[in-house]
Amino acid sequence: MGGAAESEARSELPVGVFDSGVGGLTVLRALISDLPHEDFLYLGDTARLPYGTKSAETVARYSVRSAEALVARGIKALVVACNTASSTALPALRERFPRLPVIGVIEPGARAAVDASATGRIAVLATEGTVRGGAYQRAIEALRPDAVVTQIACQIFVALAEEGWSEGPAVDAVAERYLSHLDARVDTVVLGCTHFPLLAGAIARRLGSQRRVVDSAETTARATQRALATQQLARTTRGGRVQLLATDSPERFARVGARFLGGSIAARAVEIIDL
Ligand code: DGL
Repeated sequence: MGGAAESEARSELPVGVFDSGVGGLTVLRALISDLPHEDFLYLGDTARLPYGTKSAETVARYSVRSAEALVARGIKALVVACNTASSTALPALRERFPRLPVIGVIEPGARAAVDASATGRIAVLATEGTVRGGAYQRAIEALRPDAVVTQIACQIFVALAEEGWSEGPAVDAVAERYLSHLDARVDTVVLGCTHFPLLAGAIARRLGSQRRVVDSAETTARATQRALATQQLARTTRGGRVQLLATDSPERFARVGARFLGGSIAARAVEIIDL
């Protein structure tokens, strides 16, 4: 196939979206809303969830396996919706797929935080693995060298969001425990985990109305749009198809995932694959 024909055929392929489970559906939701003409192929590695408590090496290995499964089906770009995978696996993914545009959520999230913050005192709420890797801190400091970044591992928020407990005394108690010692000068808090937007109301209440709460879903969707445009990969014909893959239990994916996607999912629409 010639250059122009090949790039046109490539632009018709779906955008691959990868997460450790259903949390990345918050990012898929923003992508669908901002890029309604694109097709999406989403993979939630539910059999290996959670990634947030695993070592960087394991997360990188799992991420490459998941990306290989998506690439084998044909994708034109890869969005790594999982913060933990974005913070540790991007170098491995870019090395494995040098021609594939790979978009992570850390840089877009850092940009949203820097844009929102007046004082430069920014807190990042994330999983253990994301905090340990320090990628948000580095990305924020690269954009604003005088920023003072506090990272807080909020592992229990993941379980609460999966359980569908977005509000109530249990969430308030956990938020109190994680957030009560936050420096008063922190004016912006990044929800650095796919699950935390579901708890945004309770988290924002604990933080107080003076603080901005940002997440990376919107900015990641815009970064994806820019990457497709720059590489002339945006669809020229109307798409809009969304295909869902998981590595375990379509019923649980559909039931829990619906809350993250903000719309119902039929279990029969979720294809189970083995990695
Ligand atoms: N998707 C993960 C993240 O955004 C949260 C769930 C997990 O630990 O796998 O960091």
